[in-house]
Amino acid sequence: MSIVSLKLTNPRGTADILPDQAVAWESLEKTARHLFKTFGYREIRTPLFEECGLFKRSLGETTEVVNKQLLEVRSQRKDAEGGDESFLALRPEGTAAVVRAYNQYDIGRNEYLSKLFYIGPMFRGERPQKGRLRQFHQIGAEALGRGANNPLLDAEMIAMAVRLLKALGLEGFKLKINSLGTVEDKAGFASWLRTELKDKIGALSDECKAQYERNVFRLLDSKDRDCQQVIASLGIGTKHLSASGLHYFEAVKAALDSMGIVYEVSEKLVRGLDYYTHTVFEIIYEGLGSQDAVGAGGRYNGLIEQLGGGDRRMPEVIGAMGFALGMERVLLALEHQGKNLNAVSALDVFVIAGSPELEARAFAFVNELRLALLSADMDFGKRNFKKQMEQANKVNARFACILGEEEVGSQKVSIKNMKTGEQLTIPAAEAVQWIERQ
Ligand code: HAM
Repeated sequence: MSIVSLKLTNPRGTADILPDQAVAWESLEKTARHLFKTFGYREIRTPLFEECGLFKRSLGETTEVVNKQLLEVRSQRKDAEGGDESFLALRPEGTAAVVRAYNQYDIGRNEYLSKLFYIGPMFRGERPQKGRLRQFHQIGAEALGRGANNPLLDAEMIAMAVRLLKALGLEGFKLKINSLGTVEDKAGFASWLRTELKDKIGALSDECKAQYERNVFRLLDSKDRDCQQVIASLGIGTKHLSASGLHYFEAVKAALDSMGIVYEVSEKLVRGLDYYTHTVFEIIYEGLGSQDAVGAGGRYNGLIEQLGGGDRRMPEVIGAMGFALGMERVLLALEHQGKNLNAVSALDVFVIAGSPELEARAFAFVNELRLALLSADMDFGKRNFKKQMEQANKVNARFACILGEEEVGSQKVSIKNMKTGEQLTIPAAEAVQWIERQ
């Protein structure tokens, strides 16, 4: 088969964001950037791929994301021994890389509290379905440092995620929170679960038995009915929390209450990545079907040290807390509610040449508008007046500026408001300023 006859399409599990959709993406990013800045967060950009070891050490070797979904990058270049230079993987999430960079540049040495955010593509080799892609995008935020060890920050982070969804106009989402307690509480919780479930696991499915061996926490949010019943019979509640773990959780809830953030405590919420301690949360939008988590996050004290950072001589614990929203899912949820982030006027002015001979005049005027930082365009097709006016409509221009023989002869320009249909003719020299004032 010759190459030209092949119909090339994008890879399965990826999506092209075409210009009509890109407007909504831009609007989502703009709202997030603005909101995050009001909370004191600054942007960080890390590479799209990292050493595989980073994800294995942070997310955990037994997690689904590392075990089954890591998309490894095979370099064609060989080192002297003929082996791959290093084992790389496309990033499945942003937290591990942010911590890697935080440690690498010793950011904590100068900053007591680092508030960082990122926006970009992530990659997981999952079976694609609605709301689940192999290349998807996250908007995430992480707070790290000695100053990040405070329950107020857990609440602030959760509030920021909730406020962003609200600022976008999303309604009806649910916030679920839970606490895994301190590192010791979490380890105790795992062994308590193993003991409690030891005699009960025999009656469950093979998948549940495998999860019991691999990562016992996964049984808590298992979709298997029998498993759910067994878990419910344990009456977990806050049994797994020590006094200090419980105290911390109570402080997070009190801070959320003080901000009027509505939440539901869910003892089944444990999250699928290994690095969490204390607070975990998830934001659910039920209209999305099976992939209904629009975002999630939690505290991960300990990861900075685990990845080689921190100063062991310093008595203060380095804290870390963050979340990520799935951008595709946020947009799907808004679409489900009939909310359209697309409704932005794309262009200030569309310039119309009254005859093909006036094309150069129109081009000069477009240039003049752009120099004044107004967005402007023209037809470039020497088409008739009607077609140009149709084009002005199609690109959603606020104004059409008409340069006909008459206007050019008297050094004037006619300006049509495309929304109201009103039209006026003014001296060409005043046109740019007039449009700027509108
Ligand atoms: P996560 O729960 O794995 O957490 O992902 C966060 C969000 O990314 C999910 O709630 C979902 O909206 C979106 N997402 C995940 N996988 C896919 C996929 N295959 N297709 C479409 N959307 C997806 C994390 O990634 C953590 N790093 C969050 C965090 C930050 N925790 C602390 N700091």
